[in-house]
Amino acid sequence: MRTYSSNRKHGLNPSPDDLPPAKRVKHLKSVKKVHSKQQTLTQLHFCIDQTILKACSRCGLSFTKGVPDDEALHRAHCAQVQKGMEWGREEEKETIKAGVVQVKTSVKLKNGRKGRIICFPADVGGKVGNKLLALLQTINRSLSSPPLTPPVLQASKAYLFLLPQETASNREQIVGCVIAQRISEAMAIAEEPTASTAAPPTIDVGEGLFCYPIPLPTPLGIPRLFVTSTHRRQGIASHLLTAAADTMIYGCKVDPRKGEVAFTQPTRDGSRVMQKWGGGSVRIYEE
Ligand SMILES: CC(C)(COP(=O)(O)OP(=O)(O)OC[C@H]1O[C@@H](n2cnc3c(N)ncnc32)[C@H](O)[C@@H]1OP(=O)(O)O)[C@@H](O)C(=O)NCCC(=O)NCCS
Ligand SMILES: [Zn+2]
Repeated sequence: MRTYSSNRKHGLNPSPDDLPPAKRVKHLKSVKKVHSKQQTLTQLHFCIDQTILKACSRCGLSFTKGVPDDEALHRAHCAQVQKGMEWGREEEKETIKAGVVQVKTSVKLKNGRKGRIICFPADVGGKVGNKLLALLQTINRSLSSPPLTPPVLQASKAYLFLLPQETASNREQIVGCVIAQRISEAMAIAEEPTASTAAPPTIDVGEGLFCYPIPLPTPLGIPRLFVTSTHRRQGIASHLLTAAADTMIYGCKVDPRKGEVAFTQPTRDGSRVMQKWGGGSVRIYEE
């Protein structure tokens, strides 16, 4: 389970039902004794700690309810996971300085809305770099992933999908992000898990996927892939991945169906995209 709050002791007294059977009997006996003596009863005040670890069904994050800092952090995270962050005027002003390139315009989604794809070096500084940093923090928190290291960022480009806001079309929202990294090798997915018999042994990489632990030359890695939850199943991840496969390596388009693209350990949704977009030939690598 994902949590960014330290687990706190709730301070709640266990109810008889929470106690193991032996203790439960003892508890009931003591209650009986009090009644039989008919003592004067005094009002007891229970001090119930209101802090409860809650898992949000919208963003999947667990946070401590009743702790203002936790609740505020969760609210901000939840909004970003659902709707994304704004690509504002400040970022737009710095596009030339930051090396932002417009890769595709008028990219049509399944619901008919149109957006554009931009790309820039993932280790960029300034306003654009700060925006990417904030975006990656949300993505990492969502995926329970560690931050990407400086060497990985230096070898990577960020591809963002920008959609005009519904209420103000002169403003854009970042609704999808792919980090594409130059890599040298990755492992091929095995059709079925095998033990070390006649076929080469495989390793379990999660989500029902198994790989042959043999490094194969592979030029493009995808260490992060994310689409805001209210914009999923519109083709955004597929458009971003195709943009990265077509433009990441200057003058050379790479083909996921030939095993030229790899993901890091995929999630359940990620493995479905690997299957559909990559035709089952996307490889796996360690970031
Ligand atoms: C994985 C993720 C990026 C996919 O983004 P997306 O924009 O919804 O993906 P696409 O619309 O391009 O989907 C392409 C295909 O992948 C498959 N697919 C994607 N999400 C799926 C899902 N939840 N269930 C079943 N199939 C799915 C479908 O075949 C889909 O094509 P279809 O909609 O025509 O059937 C998005 O779900 C996400 O951000 N998830 C949380 C973060 C994450 O898991 N990242 C992956 C890390 S490896
Ligand atoms: Zn939430």
